[in-house]
Amino acid sequence: MRILVIGSGGREHALVKGLHADPQVAEIHVAPGSAAMAPLATVHPEYSQVDEPARMVELAREVAAELVVIGPEVPLVAGVADALRADGIAVFGPNKDAAQIEGSKAFAKEVMEAAGVKTARSHQLRPGASDADIEAALDNFGPQFVVKDDGLAGGKGVVVTSERAAARAHVDAVLGAGNPVLLESFLDGPEISLFCLVDGATVVPLLPAQDHKRAYDNDEGPNTGGMGAYTPLPWLGKDDVQRIVDEVCTPVAQEMVRRGTPYSGLLYAGLAWGTQGPAVVEFNCRFGDPETQAVLSLLKSPLAQALNATATGTLAELEPLQWEDGYAITVVMAAVGYPASPRKGDVIVGEGLEDPERVLHAGTEYSSGVFRSNGGRVLNILGKGETLDAARDNAYATAQGIEFAGGFVRGDIGKRAAAGEISI
Ligand code: GLY
Repeated sequence: MRILVIGSGGREHALVKGLHADPQVAEIHVAPGSAAMAPLATVHPEYSQVDEPARMVELAREVAAELVVIGPEVPLVAGVADALRADGIAVFGPNKDAAQIEGSKAFAKEVMEAAGVKTARSHQLRPGASDADIEAALDNFGPQFVVKDDGLAGGKGVVVTSERAAARAHVDAVLGAGNPVLLESFLDGPEISLFCLVDGATVVPLLPAQDHKRAYDNDEGPNTGGMGAYTPLPWLGKDDVQRIVDEVCTPVAQEMVRRGTPYSGLLYAGLAWGTQGPAVVEFNCRFGDPETQAVLSLLKSPLAQALNATATGTLAELEPLQWEDGYAITVVMAAVGYPASPRKGDVIVGEGLEDPERVLHAGTEYSSGVFRSNGGRVLNILGKGETLDAARDNAYATAQGIEFAGGFVRGDIGKRAAAGEISI
């Protein structure tokens, strides 16, 4: 199989690594990819406009791709999958209308309501809302305010705060930028990321994971795209995963079919499991980052065959997915200034930088014989082990051997779970 992967971050590095391990894969191309992926795939830095459908079709034709795997949400929401399918190419990733499950939080709420799926109470404010409307809406939320940009923000347009003034400031900033705002009630309970392969009404869950969204240890600091993740969740049973599939993912997949916008690709349910059971915080139309880096490292089944079955409408015939025993974690090494204004260009040194079993590259460039930081989340350090503690020890041992000026990690990824401090 010849495969084109779209994207350039740590998630795509994990996808490329997984696809490369599948014996049915003959060639992998990445648009634009990164230098770190070059040992596993042909990278195409000249194809960096990943949200331009015509450019992606051009490259898919040029490399005679039999399957295109789209990593990030931006090309999906821009209709890249639609254009490739119209050209007769199999695609892993939903069409533009189905990608609205992430692209518009209001659309996601509508689908969940129709599917009877538990989620937060919400209220939308549109640009032009009066001061009185905004204050009245804020009166109905709190003490913990959840304020979301109802545009596409890759998980970064969300502010969760107990300070009303900070909530108001984010409302004003989003409305000022011309986007609607969603105010939501805060869902309590531990968070879960469950990724499912979805082909119409067929839903196949991957291992559940937990991300760590705040920048610093003990869940302090600003919200980020995700600072680290572990999988599976020792505090969640197999039956609990099936309950999420039955109560959340399958009803949503069925509702998308009923609306005439069947979903094909990866449906990412971000959940909180509180006293009422699992409730949806958000859906994404793609693999989550950095959970994917940990989840895929435990997958024993051939990845390309699973993604291809999803893309070609044969997921129901796929053999059950096989997983390694034990645990995996990803620790993000971020640049100084992340998330507000990460500094780029710092030289990265250390061991394991060219070993994708230990380090995946999320935001690096390679020049003059060295890797340099080139983004906010720079590296994803991986660790596996029979226990979560062992996986943590392995990842942090690798992290200790790598440095760049100002680069930082959270020291507590998976720590509370390993100490048995999380339960539902
Ligand atoms: N794990 C957060 C995200 O992918 O949006």
